[in-house]
Amino acid sequence: MEMEHQKKGKVCVTGASGYLASWLIKRLLLAGYHVTGTVRDPGNYEKVAHLWELEGAKERLKLVKADLMVENSFDDAIMGCDGVFHTASPAEILDPAIKGTLNVLRSCKKNPSLKRVVLTSSSSTVRVRDDFDPQIPFDESSWTSEELCQRLQIWYALSKTLAEKAAWEYCKQNQIDLVTVLPSFVIGPSLPRELCATASDVLGLLKGETEKFRWHGRMGYVHIDDVALCHILVYEDANAEGRFLCSSKVIDNNELASFLSSRYPSLPIPKRFEHLDRPNYEFNTSKVKNLGFKFKGIEEMFDDCIASLKEQGHLLFV
Ligand SMILES: NC(=O)c1ccc[n+]([C@@H]2O[C@H](COP(=O)([O-])OP(=O)(O)OC[C@H]3O[C@@H](n4cnc5c(N)ncnc54)[C@H](OP(=O)(O)O)[C@@H]3O)[C@@H](O)[C@H]2O)c1
Repeated sequence: MEMEHQKKGKVCVTGASGYLASWLIKRLLLAGYHVTGTVRDPGNYEKVAHLWELEGAKERLKLVKADLMVENSFDDAIMGCDGVFHTASPAEILDPAIKGTLNVLRSCKKNPSLKRVVLTSSSSTVRVRDDFDPQIPFDESSWTSEELCQRLQIWYALSKTLAEKAAWEYCKQNQIDLVTVLPSFVIGPSLPRELCATASDVLGLLKGETEKFRWHGRMGYVHIDDVALCHILVYEDANAEGRFLCSSKVIDNNELASFLSSRYPSLPIPKRFEHLDRPNYEFNTSKVKNLGFKFKGIEEMFDDCIASLKEQGHLLFV
C-alpha cells in the first residue's frame, strides 16, 4: 500500500480549505498522493478541521501558510512538489486575481521538480460573448469578451478570464506545463461547514429565494466530485493539454426549478423565474470525454448536495 503512495508523489493544492479544494484534497489523498495544502491561517481550527478528518490526512496531508497577496509566500509549499493545483482565488477580483496567479506561478518556476500545474479557471472564461452562433456549442477555443464583461459589469468572468490568460502567457514564456480546468457552476456536498458563495446560493434556492438564481438564466452545472476527478485526470494524463471545459449539463433556471420541485416536493423551491432575454448556449465537453471522462447527472449532484446540507443542519425539512 505505501509503495503505491510513494509512486503517486507529492502535490500542492492552493486555497486548501475552500469548497472545491477540500474535495480535491479528499480525492488526492484517496488516490495515494502526499498533499501540501496552503491556507492563509493554518492555526484557525474551525476552517481546517474538515481537512484533518479526511482519510489519509494524518499520514499524508501537510498544511502551510501562504497568501496570494504576499510575494514568494508559496515558495516553501511548492518546492519539491511534482504538481500544483492552483484553486485559490481572492475575494477581491481583477488585479488581485491576476497578481495572485502570477505569484503562485513564480514559485512554480523556482521548483526544479515541477512537472505540471493545473489551474482552476471557470466556464465563465468561455461563454460571455455576444457574437456566437447558438447552434454551435462552446468549446475550449472560445474566450469570453473582455469588452462585454466590462460593458455588462460581469467582474467575476472578467477576473477569471484575465487571470487564465496571464497564466498561459507566463507559462509559455517560462516553459511551465500548464493545464486549465473550466468548471461550470459546482454542485455537491460541502466539506467546509461554512458555505462558500456558490454553495450558499444553492441553499438559498432550496429555501425558496429567487434573487441569485433569477440572474443565472441558463447555466451549466457539474458535480463537485467530477470537478475534483477531472483535475486529477488532466494532471495524470500525459496526453492532456490546454483547456478543459468541465460541465455536465446546461439548463435554464425554470427547467432547473421544475426538476428540483418535483424531485424534492417538501422543499419550498421557487416554481418559476422571470424570463430573461438571453441567448441559448451549450457546452461541448468532448475534449475531456475523449480522455475517458464521464459526468454525473443533475439528479446525483442535487441528491448529494441536499443530503450534505441536511446532515450539516443547514436544511431542516426534506
Ligand atoms: N464554486 C463554483 O461554482 C466554481 C465554478 C467555477 C470555478 N470555480 C473556481 O474554483 C476555485 C475555488 O472556488 P470555491 O468555490 O471552492 O471557493 P471558496 O470555497 O471560496 O475557496 C476559495 C479559496 O481561496 C482562498 N483564498 C482567498 N483569498 C486568498 C488569498 N489572498 N490568499 C490565499 N488564498 C486565498 C480561500 O482561502 P482562506 O480559507 O484562506 O480564506 C479559499 O479557500 C476558484 O478559483 C473559483 O473561481 C468555482
